[in-house]
Amino acid sequence: MKTLHVDLGTRSYPIHIGTGLLDDSELIRPHIQGQEVMVVTNETIAPLYLERTLALLDGYDVATVILPDGEQYKTLDTLNLVFDALLEKHFTRRCTLIALGGGVIGDITGYAAASYQRGVNFIQIPTTLLAQVDSSVGGKTGVNHALGKNMIGAFHQPQCVIADTETLNTLDDRQLSAGLAEIIKYGLINDADFFEWLEQNMPSLLSRDPDALAYAIERSCHDKAEIVAADERESGVRALLNLGHTFGHAIETGTGYGNWLHGEAVGCGMWMAAELSHQHGWFTQTELDRTRDIIEKAKLPIQPPTSMNSDQFLDIMAVDKKNLEKKIRLILMKGIGKSFISDDFDNTLLKELLEKNIAQAKQE
Ligand code: NAD
Ligand code: GLY
Repeated sequence: MKTLHVDLGTRSYPIHIGTGLLDDSELIRPHIQGQEVMVVTNETIAPLYLERTLALLDGYDVATVILPDGEQYKTLDTLNLVFDALLEKHFTRRCTLIALGGGVIGDITGYAAASYQRGVNFIQIPTTLLAQVDSSVGGKTGVNHALGKNMIGAFHQPQCVIADTETLNTLDDRQLSAGLAEIIKYGLINDADFFEWLEQNMPSLLSRDPDALAYAIERSCHDKAEIVAADERESGVRALLNLGHTFGHAIETGTGYGNWLHGEAVGCGMWMAAELSHQHGWFTQTELDRTRDIIEKAKLPIQPPTSMNSDQFLDIMAVDKKNLEKKIRLILMKGIGKSFISDDFDNTLLKELLEKNIAQAKQE
């Protein structure tokens, strides 16, 4: 097992990464406050991992909530099901919520913990690659709105993150690739050495080589923890973690939540951010080719959905948490590992880029 730390003063916490951690009650019990524990999971994950999770909680007053599965259920209505259960059980401020699942469960549970009785403790047990490398770390919680992805939420850090890499054995290949998108993101943002490692090791990751996966998860969590420690509430550098996300969120919102996976949308978004950077002369042709190559090698789509047009993209991109004073802000790159936040790009180039990519997608 490897343990990393997110250094946030009194809100610091460990991230445990390894195999068989779901059977180690000593990892979780020190982080449970009080006697009341609510495990939040979904109908897909419950039959796989709920029993083992409950076995860790012997002696506590434990309740479970099993939510419907899917990004389309990351809503205020679903969140309310968690509040219903907490209130029906008369759970108090000293309760602890446990998120057992992927990013959807983690984000909903985290937001429930942030707001139930103005804030209770929670623990992340991420079970997808995406959640193990990204969403379980850093304390962003929330739900979607029909008009914008993740628009309702709060910063609320977990007490600990327990990433049992064996849970990835039951994940399907499409979900594995979605997680790889966020891993590639760290290389592009500020870790060129990791990007090179990924170029060499993508086949091992796709074939689920345990050592390769463990290394990629650790390095991703390390990179993310550093950025979160530097800027917990995203007043600066943390925005870089949104590389590809402004395009990606537009795809998820524009095609209807759940049709494109979050990681797929981010993969396509990173490609468009790379192309826009290239068009401004900031990103070389070689860097662009390497970016396309690694996204494709991870079996992620490059082309945007044909059901959307450029105006729809731009409309939705105008509703983004990074935007200030009605200007779209994007994460762009001046090289692999050299990302920056910009509202100083050519809007005409952006529109043309969207139109070109959508037209190309329609031809194929
Ligand atoms: P997800 O939570 O929908 O999980 C993907 C699918 O895999 C679901 O059907 C789920 O039931 C299933 N699943 C989960 N674990 C499994 C396992 N071990 N075996 C088999 N099936 C399993 O999707 P995700 O990709 O984990 O997360 C995406 C969400 O995370 C998005 O809503 C995104 O906005 C959010 N996100 C949040 C942050 C953050 O910082 N909070 C960062 C990145 C993404
Ligand atoms: N996934 C973006 C962030 O955590 O800031």
